[in-house]
This record gives sequence, structure tokens and C-alpha cells, in this order.
Amino acid sequence: MLVKQKIYEGKAKIIFTGPQQGTLIQYFKDDATAFNAKKFDVLDGKGEINNLISEFIMNKIKEKGIPTHFLERINSREQLILDCKIIPLEVVIRNIAAGSICSRLGVKSGLKFKEPLIEFYYKNDNLGDPIVNDSHISLLEWSTHTELKQVKVFALEVNNILSRYFLKVGITLIDLKLEFGRVKVDNRLVVADEISPDSCRLCDAISQEKFDKDIFRFDTGDLVSSYRKLAKRLGVIL
Ligand SMILES: Nc1ncnc2c1ncn2[C@@H]1O[C@H](COP(=O)(O)OP(=O)(O)OP(=O)(O)O)[C@@H](O)[C@H]1O
Ligand SMILES: [Mg+2]
Repeated sequence: MLVKQKIYEGKAKIIFTGPQQGTLIQYFKDDATAFNAKKFDVLDGKGEINNLISEFIMNKIKEKGIPTHFLERINSREQLILDCKIIPLEVVIRNIAAGSICSRLGVKSGLKFKEPLIEFYYKNDNLGDPIVNDSHISLLEWSTHTELKQVKVFALEVNNILSRYFLKVGITLIDLKLEFGRVKVDNRLVVADEISPDSCRLCDAISQEKFDKDIFRFDTGDLVSSYRKLAKRLGVIL
């Protein structure tokens, strides 16, 4: 058993060394940030609900054959994960236009894409996570051409699995953000980080009620109670 040491504190989570070589502990904080941390608050209960939702979603995609870093939930705020070398990209899959694509390209919010649209953003807070393309990614050696091809296959498959799953409970998956990593012990490509309403846009398929971080971004309601409502619909909590 190794001694637990903090290795990284991000905006939403803290990463600690794990109990065995090759593992880490991911701790979900109550902190909420938006617009590259220009907006900040502490929302009681957010960490616990995101830990549960992310566990549920990671297991759901794992069941369908997508490799992930998730091993098990340890307690209400922590989960055991595989230690990965994170590919410095935010992989965004959009089914319906919302958020930055609307302001950047003048696309009307709510436009349904004929097929899922993939974008890559370079994970770098100092630069404001700029959008990049396949050439930047391979020439700047963030990922190889072959690996990126696999990232796209997994990303589209995750979007497919989750879109269908959410729709069964009457929820539309507007878009989602994924991070990928290479497992340090065997170099396997896996879905890492978290998949939660902090990293997806979700709304009720009929009423359009929102269940995601836009509630916090634009102060339109109580974020944690909306996340709890979503967790209930998914059967994650009673
Ligand atoms: N399996 C993993 N192995 C190693 N690092 C991971 C793993 N999963 C996620 N991470 C990283 O742990 C950190 C989680 O913290 P958090 O999400 O709060 O960061 P952040 O503030 O979004 O900042 P950034 O993602 O830009 O570092 C992220 O840097 C994420 O990329
Ligand atoms: Mg993050």
C-alpha cells in the first residue's frame, strides 16, 4: 500500500497517488468554474453527484466495449482510476449546436447536425484551450495519426451509446467533451477524466429543461438540484 499523496489539483478534481502502482485516486470537489475559471463558486453536493454520475456513465460505456480508466468508486467523493498519460486534447462531439460553436462560427443555437461533429481543443488554460485540427495534433506530436483515428472511433461510439441511452429516459445529449489517455503500464488508449453534466450538455427531450453546467454559466437555476434530478432519471440515485 502506497502513501496517498496529492499530485495535481485542477478546477473540479484533485488527483492523488493510488494504493497500487499504476493507479490514481480522483477526488471530486464541489468547486464550479466556467469561462476558463473567470466564474467560480462552491456548490455543496456537486462533487458527490458528479462522482456517482461519472461512475455510472463510465460503467455504461465499458459494458459496451469502450476501454476506460475507471476501476471502482472508493467513497462518496473518490474513485480509483488507472494512471494515464493524458493526451492534451478536449475531444468535443456535437449533435446539436450550442455554446462556443455558435459564437465562433455564427451557427444558430439548436441547429441539428446531420451527423455528429467532432472538434479538438488543445488543453492549455493559459491559451484558453484553443481549437486545433488533425495537422496541429500530429505535427505538434500530441497524438499520432493512427491514435487519433482510434480516438475518433471511440468518441463517436461513446456519443452513440450515450445518445441512445439518454433518449430512453427522455433526455437529449446535445454535446459532450471527452479526454483520452494512454495507460502508463501498458500504453492502452482509454477514455479518462470524467463524463458528467459538467462535461455534457443535456436537456429534457420535450420540455428542453436543462441538466448541465449552463445552469451555472448563465445563473438560470440551482445546478446541484438539476444534477440530482438527472441522476434520478438515470437511476443513479433513488
Ligand atoms: N486517468 C488519469 N490519469 C492521469 N490524469 C488524469 C486521468 N484522468 C484525468 N486526469 C487529469 O486530471 C485532472 C483532473 O482535474 P480537473 O478536471 O479538475 O482539471 P482541470 O481544472 O479541468 O484542468 P486541466 O484538465 O486543464 O488540467 C485533469 O488534468 C485531467 O486531465
Ligand atoms: Mg477538467
